[in-house]
Amino acid sequence: MADQETIARAAQLMRAGELVGFPTETVYGLGGDATNEGAVARIFAAKGRPHFNPLIVHVPALAEAEALARFDERARLAARRFWPGPLSLVLPRRADSRLSLLASAGLDTVALRAPAHPIAQALLRAAGRPIAAPSANRSGRISPTTAAHVADELGDSVALILDDGPCPVGIESTVLDLTGAMPALLRPGGVPLEQLAEVFGEIETIVPDDGAPRAPGRLASHYAPDLPLRLAATDPRPGEALLAFGPAAAAGFAEVLWLSRRGALAEAAANLFAMLRRLDRPEFTGIAVTAIPEEGLGRAINDRLRRAAAPRSIG
Ligand code: TXA
Ligand code: MG
Repeated sequence: MADQETIARAAQLMRAGELVGFPTETVYGLGGDATNEGAVARIFAAKGRPHFNPLIVHVPALAEAEALARFDERARLAARRFWPGPLSLVLPRRADSRLSLLASAGLDTVALRAPAHPIAQALLRAAGRPIAAPSANRSGRISPTTAAHVADELGDSVALILDDGPCPVGIESTVLDLTGAMPALLRPGGVPLEQLAEVFGEIETIVPDDGAPRAPGRLASHYAPDLPLRLAATDPRPGEALLAFGPAAAAGFAEVLWLSRRGALAEAAANLFAMLRRLDRPEFTGIAVTAIPEEGLGRAINDRLRRAAAPRSIG
């Protein structure tokens, strides 16, 4: 488990251009100094991530964020209401920010987030500079919610992994674009759409993969296990494992894991990625998932599941 001394060492490593795996309340991040082009290039290389897909830049709080992007009153309201927490804001980049151009994939906008996790907070404060951190998985694969997941996938690329056990939210931050006239949801995540709507009123939902340049990283296939995934399953197919939610009928499946027996969406979100990994074994023919309600955190869960089930374009 991460103590003060290890956090200080991790911060020092990042200041020296190295990459560090660290916990946030959503998923583990692969962090590097967002003002260091070389460190940011190493993040893309380690993940095998396409360069057109920008990274989220992490800061401790609004004060540090204001040095990197232009905040209007609406953006300040979002930060005051939801930071620290699982919301990333896409805002116009400040021309005088020292942010790596590669981090935001050459766009004139940047995605910023202040994570709530105490280890992430301590690390960001110790680093004293903005930290670019995508989820610490190989591009297109299942996101990591434990330090062991990070070690399995990216152990060779990181100088150190801060371990603080499983991530409490378990699903990535909501990405909200505040550069247009109406707030636009680019990725459903840890802050449910309903909570955003309470604050902002109407919110545009960007349907990913319609070629919309505003959601550059929203590839159809993502979060993918090796096994095929079947959604809204009711009856078993031979050799299939099941991810079940609520009072689902689970008889006849080769193995069953419960995202949440009592049908709690927050519990299901926290379990989702770790359980997908646990069932992704060659002894099964596929993974079936029962239907999950399209509300609250269920939107983010269903978004990840649809992508995990999407046809894979590249290997
Ligand atoms: O919860 C999270 O957000 C985690 C933890 C580590 O903080 N990070 C994360 O980063 O999920 P990543 O890189 O895996 O996802 C970043 C998402 C992508 O969908 C990307 O396309 C979008 O944010 N994004 C980043 N910058 C953007 C920008 N300037 N405009 C539009 N979308 C952007
Ligand atoms: Mg990711």
